[in-house]
Amino acid sequence: MQNLLNFTFENIDKYIGANENKSAGLLDFKSPAELNKLVDFAVGENGLQEGEFKEALKNYLDYSVNTGHKQFLNQLYSGFNLPAFIGEMITALTNTSMYTYEVAPMATMIEKEMIRLMNSFVGYTDGDGIFTSGGSNGNLLAMLSARNKLFPEGRFTGYENRLKLKAFVSDQAHYSFETAANIIGIGSKNVVKVQSDKNGKMIPAALERAIKKSLEMGETPFFVAATCATTLLGAYDPIDQMSEICRKYNLWLHADGSFGGSLIISKKHRHLIKGLEQTDSFVWNPHKLMNIPLVCSTFLVKNKDTLYKNITDINTDYIFHNIDAVEDLGKKSIQCGRRVDAVKLWFAWKYYGKNGYENRINHSMSMAKYAEEKVKSHPSLELLADRQSFAVCFRYIPEYKTDINEFNLKVREKLRKEGKTIVNYGFHGKTLAIRLVIANAELQKEDIDLFFHYFTTAAKELSNIKQMENEFIS
Ligand SMILES: Cc1ncc(COP(=O)(O)O)c(C=O)c1O
Repeated sequence: MQNLLNFTFENIDKYIGANENKSAGLLDFKSPAELNKLVDFAVGENGLQEGEFKEALKNYLDYSVNTGHKQFLNQLYSGFNLPAFIGEMITALTNTSMYTYEVAPMATMIEKEMIRLMNSFVGYTDGDGIFTSGGSNGNLLAMLSARNKLFPEGRFTGYENRLKLKAFVSDQAHYSFETAANIIGIGSKNVVKVQSDKNGKMIPAALERAIKKSLEMGETPFFVAATCATTLLGAYDPIDQMSEICRKYNLWLHADGSFGGSLIISKKHRHLIKGLEQTDSFVWNPHKLMNIPLVCSTFLVKNKDTLYKNITDINTDYIFHNIDAVEDLGKKSIQCGRRVDAVKLWFAWKYYGKNGYENRINHSMSMAKYAEEKVKSHPSLELLADRQSFAVCFRYIPEYKTDINEFNLKVREKLRKEGKTIVNYGFHGKTLAIRLVIANAELQKEDIDLFFHYFTTAAKELSNIKQMENEFIS
């Protein structure tokens, strides 16, 4: 066993080393068919010999995407955070579940402290919260809380949408709100997409118009969500203006900070979430901008009673014995067995300190600004929307006449398959936008320079090939 553990740690060390090695690449790309040839995915009748086990482990590491690498710029999460990684290992080592103090004394105290700390940043002075399995599930809890506040009996009797409950989110909001509406029995068609401006922020006047229209049609508006950093453009909806509207119509206001919620710890940038303390609930995902390994996500609520009274209210005596002088957190969760996700956050936050983490967020924002300037100063790159926060959306304009969307996609795919850099894309209207995300707080200017070097070189290469083809044809 020791031998296997040593082998694993040696390989972990090499893997982490590759994060720093700029020429190493971040992926040895293989197609599904190639992977099937290289790796035996089936579980055999007999167990593996030690050597075969080691090979399986190496295969996994060799053909995975190294998301801690500085050229992994594809998702809203990235980066390698050592204290959090140690927290994750310790979590697996101690392998417990978050439901009771009895089996998770340290983790219970830590989760309570993390929720207290996070609520103090938000400004919920008498709030509560719970670690969940992701931002999507936090958004679901928010919608469920709003529905049950309006119809407390629905918890017991079930819910029929005869009153036509309507939820309002921006047209840039995450798809999880539609999923949530489906799950809680509202129906995804009853999520109204409110118009956003050219930079992706919800237009408050459009929100009010949509609410009034809904009322005129005899429907029941009940829930509004502001997005704190939209998935494509990184836009922050104007919470303070939205909260005035919600107060006027007595609606639950939720803020989805799955991507950009961690910005709240930056004094310099928190003006983007001005008014957050006015909301009823907030989703904050430390697994994104705080670089905690997936999953680390919280659902925070302003009213202390919400989780226990509005959602669960469970007191099953075969698990919750109420014998320790502390509440069992499982009573507030829709999960029974629940991973310990607070511990890795706690290790990381204690390691960097509040100031250290604030600096990391500020640094990411300044790197995003640097990336935006690189785009603006390059003659062949076009910025597709003003940068709002941590995402820069751009495209390359090729030197010859072609389908620009297709061209940019080809550049992206070439780089991904070469394993040099991975950057994602989405559609801004009909325009394919390359979305460069600066979520890894360890990124430096040279990493961003390298990304643009890769991107523009690959684009030039593609342009040259195409031009030669055109000349040949003509
Ligand atoms: C704005 C927004 N909300 C919600 C989510 C979903 O979060 P999770 O992936 O943790 O479920 C995302 C994910 O990228 C997001 O960008």
